[in-house]
Formats: sequence, structure tokens, C-alpha cells
Amino acid sequence: MPDCTPPRLDDALLAQAVARLQAGELVAFPTETVYGLGADAANPAAVAKIFAAKGRPSNHPLIVHLAAAEDMAHWAREIPPVAWKLAEVFWPGPLTLILKKQDGTPAAVTGGQDTLGLRIPAHPLALRLLRAFGEAVKQGGVAAPSANRFGRISPTTAVHVRAELGERTALILDGGACPVGIESTILDLSRFAAQGARILRPGGVAAPALAEVLGVLPESLAKKSAEDAPRVSGSLASHYAPNTPVRLLARAALPDFLARQAAAGCRCGALVLRPQANAQLCRVLPDDPAQYARMLYASLRELDEAALDLIVVETPPIGFTWNAIHDRLRRAAA
Ligand code: TXA
Ligand code: MG
Repeated sequence: MPDCTPPRLDDALLAQAVARLQAGELVAFPTETVYGLGADAANPAAVAKIFAAKGRPSNHPLIVHLAAAEDMAHWAREIPPVAWKLAEVFWPGPLTLILKKQDGTPAAVTGGQDTLGLRIPAHPLALRLLRAFGEAVKQGGVAAPSANRFGRISPTTAVHVRAELGERTALILDGGACPVGIESTILDLSRFAAQGARILRPGGVAAPALAEVLGVLPESLAKKSAEDAPRVSGSLASHYAPNTPVRLLARAALPDFLARQAAAGCRCGALVLRPQANAQLCRVLPDDPAQYARMLYASLRELDEAALDLIVVETPPIGFTWNAIHDRLRRAAA
């Protein structure tokens, strides 16, 4: 179980991080979901550095992280009342709202679209950074994707960020292991009047919790990814992927499969809910979706670094609270 107590951030380092953002430099910071690679969202040259560092296509939009829900009106327009309600209930927290953007938002942030993603992360260190930046630059927002190279597993520790981006790309704030461990839920409210709320990416907030505020279960577009792929890079079939091939298997099929692979000389790793014989390296994850999510990316990374031929993943249980995990595992295996 990762230790999720954040290390302390001293005032000098915080001031340095804010100064870097103001100077158009990058700062990697922890959130409750995954680490983000941040830049001043109002500075197109700074935002361009994010795309260069990640190797990410420039038409993939970024989420803008805010310090306060009131700032939503600075960044978005035609905000439906339900957005304020969702913000009140779920912010700070792992929910990103897609809204129509205000005219001033740089196209570099939105990938040229007329919509924008906003969220307030629930991590003490991220909040201190966002508040301090918001004081330095009125209503300032920090544009930040996950702090990994494009298409790779999102980082959930500062060590992962260093492994992805190296030491020199950004100032890296160490906030310990991320307590949620998978990315935020992305809820599209930009066409709310015509189409209602739609989930573009399942994540840290499950659909039934959203339904309590929305009054209906939001439609999920997560599986209809193809047509929207450029708009939501997290919806590309092969995203969140290790370098080692990944295969999903039902529990009942695992023992035979692993025995056959071992006999054939194939070095298999296993990411499972029950220990398995015949795996070269076995990582057993908890049977609880929140705890599973917290450990998922670190475990996949560890298996990926073990020079295996194949990573076999036991298909987790079905149910709303497991949806985001299924989504990430499907993409890791694609
Ligand atoms: O938990 C998270 O969401 C993390 C932390 C750092 O906040 N961020 C994150 O960012 O996962 P990123 O860029 O790796 O994934 C954000 C997803 C992308 O797939 C992007 O395409 C989508 O959000 N997105 C951002 N703005 C959008 C918009 N206007 N319309 C549709 N999708 C959007
Ligand atoms: Mg990402």
C-alpha cells in the first residue's frame, strides 16, 4: 500500500514554483489523481512547452486547474447551473467539467476547440500552488496534462515523473503517492441543453455519484472513442500503455494460461486479485476498487520494468465503481 501522506512543501520551494510558472516555465505537481505537468494557462508559449515535453500532438486539449470555483466564470461561458452544483459537491476532487470556453482562453490550451476542461484538484500541495499562483496572477489557472510522455502510463509518484520527463524539463514538486491513482472523470457539459451531461472518460468520480446531482445517470461516451479520439487523448484505444504487451484474462483462465506460457519459456508477469503460481512476477492488488486504483499504475510500471515478455491481468469485477479501472486496463491491453 503506498504511503499517501504528502511530504511538506516549504515556502521557499512554493515561491520558486510560482515564480517559474510566472516566467513561463513548467512545474510538475501532485494531484489526488496523478501528477500533472503544469504551465500558466494564459501563456501560449508556456503551454507549448508542455506539448514539446510530452511529445503530445498539439490538437489535444489540456485541463485548466483552478484554485476556486468562482474562477470558472473567468474561463468558461454559458455555464449551466448544474455545473455550479457539481463544482460545489465534487470540487476539490477528481472531476473535470468540459464547458464552452471564454474568448480569451488561448487556443494552445483547448487544441483549437471552443470548449475547455476545468477542475480543482483535492491535493493540499496542488491547492497551495494554485492559490499562490492565483494570488500572483489574478484568476490564474494552471494548464496541466498528466506528467508522462504521450501514450504512456500516468505517473503517481515524483519518481515516476522523473523517469518520464527527466530532471531538467520541469521543477518537480514531490507530494508523495497520489491517493486516487487514476485520472479524473471527464464530464462534458458543453452541450448540456441539447444533450445533457456525458462522460468522456470514467475516472475518480463514479457515474452513480454524478447521478445524485444530475438527477439522471449521465450517458457514457467512453467506449465510443473512435470518432472523438483527437478531442480526448485519454480515449485513444492504446493509451496508458506499458511497453510490455498486456493481456486481460478471466480468473478461471489464468492458471492454465500461465502454466502453458511458463512451459513455453515465456516470462509472464501477473497483475491479479489472488496469487498465481507460474508467473515470473506476481503483483496482487486489493479487491476494493479505490485501493486497486491507487496501486494500479505503480504496479503496471513495476511489471513493465521487469523485462517480461507479457503482462497478464486478471479481469476485475464488474460494476460502476470498477468502470474506470476496466477502461484503463482495456487501453493498456489495446
Ligand atoms: O486527473 C486528471 O485529469 C489529470 C490531473 C493532472 O488533473 N490530468 C489529466 O490530463 O489526466 P490529460 O491531459 O492527461 O488528460 C485529460 C483529458 C485528455 O484526454 C483531453 O483530451 C481531455 O481531457 N480534454 C481536455 N479538454 C477537453 C475538451 N475541451 N474537450 C474534450 N476533452 C478534453
Ligand atoms: Mg494523460
